[in-house]
Amino acid sequence: MVTEQSFIMVKPDGVQRGLVGDIIKRYEQRGYTLKGLKLMNVDKSLAEKHYEEHQGKPFFPKLVDFITSGPVCAMVWEGKNIVAAGRTMIGATNPQASAPGTIRGDYGIDMGRNIIHGSDSVESARREIGLWFPEGLAEWTPVAKPWIY
Ligand code: PPS
Repeated sequence: MVTEQSFIMVKPDGVQRGLVGDIIKRYEQRGYTLKGLKLMNVDKSLAEKHYEEHQGKPFFPKLVDFITSGPVCAMVWEGKNIVAAGRTMIGATNPQASAPGTIRGDYGIDMGRNIIHGSDSVESARREIGLWFPEGLAEWTPVAKPWIY
């Protein structure tokens, strides 16, 4: 059975502030399974494809500049309801509106530097995983699941 997957990306501010380890720890401890992980620089074309639904919005050029400004940590996480739960763990788009305990609520204060991206639907996750991991994902199943996580 294929369980749900989500594309989660630590943005350049999160990488440079050393938040990758904490973010991975949160998803691991919640019980999700890491299926893909890479640190990479993002070219303009990939950034524009990733955010293509926002082309034309006032923040689009700044968003592309930001995502291409330094390495990101691209990840795929798998598990029950990971798309919605992954977004809940991230918090609101504006870190100022994010509850304490969420990633943005704990670490962010700036709308344009909001640390992390998570897919907003199962369909977006499928598209984003294909875009960022064209080489495919590691195949593995944790032996202890489902009764220990
Ligand atoms: S919208 O217009 O409501 O659909 O946009 P939204 O879903 O809130 O945001 C889409 C992505 O753009 C980022 N964003 C911004 N970046 C920089 N500056 C500003 N002002 C800004 N507004 C929105 C937002 O974080 C979303 O990116 P991801 O990577 O999905 O978080």
